Amino acid sequence: MKKKKGFIFDLDGVIVDTAKYHYLAWKKIADSLNIEFTHEHNELLKGVSRVRSLDIILELGSVEASQEQKDQWLVQKNEEYLSYLVDMDQSEILPGVVPVLDYLKANEQLIALGSASKNARPILEKTGILSYFDAIVDGNDVSNAKPDPEVFLIAAQQLNTSPNDAIVFEDSVAGIQAANIANMTSVGIGDATVLHEAQHNFKDFTFIGTSFLNELIEK
Ligand code: BG6
Ligand code: MG
Repeated sequence: MKKKKGFIFDLDGVIVDTAKYHYLAWKKIADSLNIEFTHEHNELLKGVSRVRSLDIILELGSVEASQEQKDQWLVQKNEEYLSYLVDMDQSEILPGVVPVLDYLKANEQLIALGSASKNARPILEKTGILSYFDAIVDGNDVSNAKPDPEVFLIAAQQLNTSPNDAIVFEDSVAGIQAANIANMTSVGIGDATVLHEAQHNFKDFTFIGTSFLNELIEK
């Protein structure tokens, strides 16, 4: 039998449209500090850990703060972010994701989550797709943030696939770089100009057909 491939999905901005909630929550902190924080700045935060994201925002505004103050902002940001997730259900899953997950399952492929988020599990539970995943690696399991490939390498290891046989779906520049460094197949989901380092690009999952998936499975 042919070796199974390992399909690794980022979460925020790939499976669910939570990237906008991260942005809104950070924007509230940035506004309170009079730091200009645009959607363009937000691209720098995609795929990046919560702690590093705050540092980037503070750097943007040349703001220095004590660890105690930073910890308060981190709690505040997460509380604001979680308030957007209270009523989350399967309607928040991005278009085309479930058919792709179904197709991969039907073809007996391996599926993992590779996310920087510490809120990943409750999101998968709320949206009802937890059972698709053979492995879940999230912000609680890694010490090095993307573009470090750690999260994807652990995911491949847990799936028992070699990096060469792994495919990563990502919406962030840092995540695409991490997949490339790990020698995995990188698939950018979103703006191809921003994600130009990806080996393949799709605006969203509705553009991913079964012929592309078969190509990856047969590779
Ligand atoms: C990534 C997001 O998936 O998770 C980042 O792209 C976010 O924007 C990071 O900062 C950490 O998420 P959380 O939920 O642990 O704050
Ligand atoms: Mg993402």
